[in-house]
Amino acid sequence: MPIDHAPWFTHDRFGLFVHWGLYSLAARHEWVMHDEKIRLEEYRRYTRYFDPDLYDPREWARAAREAGMKYVVLTTKHHEGFCLWDTALTDYKSTNTPYGRDIVASFVEAVRAEGLRVGFYHSLIDWSHPDFLVDGRHPRRDDLDAEAQNEGRDMGRYREYLYGQVRELLTNYGIIDYLFFDFSYKNDDHHDVWGGKGAEDWGSEELLTLTRELQPGIVVNDRLDIPGDFVTPEEYQPDKPMEVDGRRVVWEACHTLNGSWGYFRDNSNDKPVDQLVRMLIDGVSKDGNLLLNVGPTGRGNIDPRAMTSLEGIGEWMRLHSRSIYGAGAASFTPPPDARYTQRGDRLYLHLFAWPLEDVNLAGLAGKVEYARLLNDASELSFKEIDPNVRAVTTGMGGPPKGTLTLTLPVVRPDVMVPVVELFLNERA
Ligand code: GLC
Repeated sequence: MPIDHAPWFTHDRFGLFVHWGLYSLAARHEWVMHDEKIRLEEYRRYTRYFDPDLYDPREWARAAREAGMKYVVLTTKHHEGFCLWDTALTDYKSTNTPYGRDIVASFVEAVRAEGLRVGFYHSLIDWSHPDFLVDGRHPRRDDLDAEAQNEGRDMGRYREYLYGQVRELLTNYGIIDYLFFDFSYKNDDHHDVWGGKGAEDWGSEELLTLTRELQPGIVVNDRLDIPGDFVTPEEYQPDKPMEVDGRRVVWEACHTLNGSWGYFRDNSNDKPVDQLVRMLIDGVSKDGNLLLNVGPTGRGNIDPRAMTSLEGIGEWMRLHSRSIYGAGAASFTPPPDARYTQRGDRLYLHLFAWPLEDVNLAGLAGKVEYARLLNDASELSFKEIDPNVRAVTTGMGGPPKGTLTLTLPVVRPDVMVPVVELFLNERA
């Protein structure tokens, strides 16, 4: 089911996540400030070296479009607190570095120029802000005087800062289609000594109201610790369409290429491209979206390994995107090692393994008028076990009544995931 005020989201299915900030210079994960307990005064020195001469948002947007992505989501500010736009509320920003320009401004212009929708990620957490209470995830959590530091810190002042920056972002850059707030950890068992932060700390109801007032058509995620427009499974694939309190919900899985959202030079744990394609298909087969992440380098470009992954996905999408866009979960159960997606009277069989000649499709006898391989539109023949004819043989195995048996070429098509397009008839 679509989001009423933004049907594009469940139609477009596929977006690019971009994590970029001072952590990209450290090049060892976007939580480096937390992981290495780097004090702010030391961490801020990265601003002196932030000069991404290869930053070209048109290149990012073109890579996204050619990969088949329909929206692009940029970190405006991550937990480190460094702002990629010319905010009036702090000098800890991209316009205050050797680079000297408003990155968000050129980003939104480039994404729109490529015909894609604009999304922001905005961190609720801010380890640079003097009023943000030190807690169990703060870089200074283990300082001897950590609790003492919270003297005088005022989360009410921090909320004013948070709202003020969200107001800037949703006022000064035109139509923003998507907002990914990140993240709440109220019942944080990681650091029960400190407790976490959630809706009360953020003033989430007020913040969400402000967001929708400024951008009525925007889609907002669920990480304000109150319900949003979609839920956000992270780095995992749900095993069926998602529900909350027994009701289907719109969901988007966000995934990295290698386990790190920010650029991580020494991480070579890249997911194979065909796995990324299968993740996209798998998500759509369960009514979900995929937001796939890249972490540009400190020079501002998407690194070659990530670009190769995007290009590989694009190669598959060029032939098969009609099984993704506007598609969702099917009303039939696919055979093993396969996924169905359905778009109206078209059923798409995605074959994660290539069967030997035949594949049996349960419950489809009498419901299919035509079948073809999607990559080259070549016709496929099929036979049906008539649901009304009793099996004449006993003791011999065979597909159950109502099965449609599709005959496949012995040679598997040379595509990452072969797809069969089935034309359903009115009995389906
Ligand atoms: C988690 C990570 C954060 C990342 C986000 C992406 O919240 O802590 O670094 O930006 O996931 O969904």
